[in-house]
Amino acid sequence: MRVIAVVNYKGGVGKTTFTANIGAELARRGKHVLLVDLDPQCSLTQCFYTADDYQYRIRENRTLKLWFDTFVDGLPRASLANFIVTPREANAAIQQHGAGRLDLIASDVLLFQLDLDAARAAAHSSDVDRVLFLRRRALLDALSATDMPAYDYILLDCPPNFGLLTQAALVACRDVIMPAKADYLSTVGLDTLFFSIHGFREDYATMVKKYGGKHAGGAFNPGEYLVVYTMVRFRFQRPEAGHQYYMDQVKNVLKLDAFQTVIRQSDATFGNIGASVIPPALRLKPSDQIHEELRALTDEFLAKFPSTKGSVAAA
Ligand SMILES: Nc1ncnc2c1ncn2[C@@H]1O[C@H](COP(=O)(O)OP(=O)(O)OP(=O)(O)O)[C@@H](O)[C@H]1O
Ligand SMILES: [Mg+2]
Repeated sequence: MRVIAVVNYKGGVGKTTFTANIGAELARRGKHVLLVDLDPQCSLTQCFYTADDYQYRIRENRTLKLWFDTFVDGLPRASLANFIVTPREANAAIQQHGAGRLDLIASDVLLFQLDLDAARAAAHSSDVDRVLFLRRRALLDALSATDMPAYDYILLDCPPNFGLLTQAALVACRDVIMPAKADYLSTVGLDTLFFSIHGFREDYATMVKKYGGKHAGGAFNPGEYLVVYTMVRFRFQRPEAGHQYYMDQVKNVLKLDAFQTVIRQSDATFGNIGASVIPPALRLKPSDQIHEELRALTDEFLAKFPSTKGSVAAA
């Protein structure tokens, strides 16, 4: 099992679109995939459930927020496995091709309170660091629990900030994928993001020395850090020169690796997130160019992130 965080604190760069589509394509290829929506905006959840379905079937019973509600003294009283849902329509489309499966842990707008709750708990505690530590490692512990189903991949779709949910994802993951637009502001942000992630991991490692606990999934030895370029405009079958310039800068100056395949700008394909509960990756025709590109991106993903099905701890 390989846990990968999809992170960028810059908003609207295509994190959720990447997570939903690569997750769907991996499942179409027979992989067992869990997507976790860590964003109170619920965009990833919306990729798989209509508003009504979510409101009446999911929100009251199974969301990440409800799992966090079970916490007492910083520790969950329920298994995260109880909160997994299996989107019906997307899986029907996946199973036309094989035995893959795509599960989800849905979000809730009220998750935005998590940072505030942690701050309150810390204010009432004699050991502020311990309160933070327990919350930061909660997802890691939950994903490596023995009652979690065996997945090939778990993808963590982070909100556009560096709050507790992003931190919990960074502790839980082995690898980091950073979706970014190939423009000036996004590439400046990538540098900052990379160093923030490293700094955070060092801080967390200090906490582990103090408080102990598991560090499965490579929390101390970061795996791959890879940029994926999204919303790239093309001219004569190549990324526009302006985009290429910034992609080269990131490679040569910031020394950050990126997927060779980029996701092109296509409002018709990706522009209306949540318009269907079946992600474009499962709806495109083989003759569509984007279909080919998503396939190529998934080939790269599988080569960069080999996975054996099993527990997080064993990966
Ligand atoms: N390749 C693309 N072509 C055209 N539109 C896209 C593409 N990728 C994403 N979009 C659109 O851009 C918007 C932002 O995408 P998305 O929600 O995936 O970004 P995000 O980084 O997850 O945002 P946030 O930071 O708010 O979570 C959405 O409306 C989505 O439909
Ligand atoms: Mg998002």
